[in-house]
Amino acid sequence: MLGRVLAQPSITERLLRQALQVPLPNFLHGVVVVGMGGSGMCGDLLATLADSTSPVPVVVHKDYGLPKWVGRTTLVVAVSYSGETEETLDAAREALRRDLPLAVMTRGGALAQLAMEHGVPLVQVQGPKMLPRAALPFMVTPLLQLGATLGLVPDPRGSTAALHLRSLAAQLGPSVPFESNPAKQLAGKLLHATAAIYGHGPMATVAQRWRAQLNENAKVFARDLCLPEMNHNDLVPWPVDKGAAGQHVVLLRHQHESERVKLRFVVTEELGWCHAAGITQVGPFEGDPLAALLGAIFYGDLVSVYLAGLRGVDPSPVEAIAALKGRLGGSPQ
Ligand code: PA5
Repeated sequence: MLGRVLAQPSITERLLRQALQVPLPNFLHGVVVVGMGGSGMCGDLLATLADSTSPVPVVVHKDYGLPKWVGRTTLVVAVSYSGETEETLDAAREALRRDLPLAVMTRGGALAQLAMEHGVPLVQVQGPKMLPRAALPFMVTPLLQLGATLGLVPDPRGSTAALHLRSLAAQLGPSVPFESNPAKQLAGKLLHATAAIYGHGPMATVAQRWRAQLNENAKVFARDLCLPEMNHNDLVPWPVDKGAAGQHVVLLRHQHESERVKLRFVVTEELGWCHAAGITQVGPFEGDPLAALLGAIFYGDLVSVYLAGLRGVDPSPVEAIAALKGRLGGSPQ
């Protein structure tokens, strides 16, 4: 897993140079990306970037079926690395049943089969077979290129993401010793406390990835929450619940927070987070929006793998997910 994480800068650099050649409808009132887990996260990243650039809504759906409002001028993009995820397959079949515009992104499996049988535009995910969450750079880059083709987000080829990832790798990689490596130091703190990860705007999306990577790689519980919403609920127990002392607060910061949001971070720390086991601020992540997102993800991926090492667990297998998929059996037709 560490090797896969460390490959992110070079993979991103290579894939960002490529152009996507897939026929897509050119009249759209919206896009729904369907995907679960690591694949769904790619949809979250597209939707996050699209928030500030897209003239039409980009929504992520993480469930069976499709919302009723999805109509003939909405593109459904079904994303599944394995191509075998039951919920995603069900949503793609629903799109076909309702005769909705559909595109598919997968490395193979039943979803690729379905796309070929029905003549659905198919974006074939490149690269060797790996775990879905490790394949994020292989999926997010073509998904963003698809988004750029539709005018939802800027062309990712203009991003400095690869450069940013290289610089982070030099600061946080395994050869950088603990004393000067903030990612290793944070993993050390999370060995003794549950991570409570907070972010605003794009960093709220990244907080979800951090939580999921801590769950799957390090096999630990973690929480992710966003500002300002947490100011209206999660803030309340911090000064009064003894559970506060068992949590380490991770604040994911970005360069474009407004003055009001910055003030909320300060006041929330004074009223609530000061009761935690500790607080670590990560960032602010800089650069263009894609560079900031991918940089923050890379950072969290490294923390999760370092924590797995400290806990003596293998980051790769996710036995509970495999067992659950096995117990549920094949996907409904
Ligand atoms: O990281 C994982 O293995 C999971 O979160 C998967 O991404 C999730 O179960 C969905 O599988 P897929 O990405 O193959 O659709």
